[in-house]
Amino acid sequence: MEAMKLPKHAVEWNNLLLIYRFALSEVNTKLNILNEEFQFIHSHNPIEHIKSRVKSTDSIISKLERKGYAITLENAQKYIHDIAGIRIICSFTSDIYTIYELIKKQSDINIIEIKDYIKNPKPNGYQSLHLIVEIPVFLSDRTAPVKVEIQIRTIAMDFWASLEHKIFYKFNKIVPESITDQLKECADVISHLDYTMLDIKNKMAQYK
Ligand code: GTP
Ligand code: MG
Repeated sequence: MEAMKLPKHAVEWNNLLLIYRFALSEVNTKLNILNEEFQFIHSHNPIEHIKSRVKSTDSIISKLERKGYAITLENAQKYIHDIAGIRIICSFTSDIYTIYELIKKQSDINIIEIKDYIKNPKPNGYQSLHLIVEIPVFLSDRTAPVKVEIQIRTIAMDFWASLEHKIFYKFNKIVPESITDQLKECADVISHLDYTMLDIKNKMAQYK
């Protein structure tokens, strides 16, 4: 394997990652406000919990190489949309779309891309709602528009995705068919589970 090429300007790369960290903390704050306010008005938390991370320089470089782009800061910002990543975990499928609507309403968030793997699950069974958004980060000398990948899924979908991810890497991306079949079966069970849990929740609402 070819040795990893380190970016020439390490300071500039670290500065870039800093801006993505700012973007993450802005989105995190927005989500916490929405969640608390929703709890206050509707006595229900649409968000169970949030995980966020900034991609490491090494992963950004590997992804640029994989996609066939030269390793530059400009290419990283232009072509790698998940340098800043947030995963929002919800209890119910309906919460996923509630959060999506709330994000959509925020005037400083620009939704660049939506992939609905819940309405259209991937062939392996993967389900989640993916958004690429852009938000302004106000720096001392300029305002930088920064992209953030937001993945929204239920607890059950998250459980499935983390196991599938581990298996995918364990088998170096070539997973035995018996396991992919079982994973698909689990994904179907999860769809049914999420649907039934939501149905129960909706029925409960009638008893208030
Ligand atoms: P990359 O896969 O990041 O190059 O982007 P893409 O253009 O394929 O976007 P997509 O929205 O399909 O996937 C973005 C991210 O979602 C991935 O990096 C994973 O974190 C997650 N993801 C997508 N598909 C799967 C899947 O089949 N299994 C699991 N466990 N995670 C997935
Ligand atoms: Mg992908």
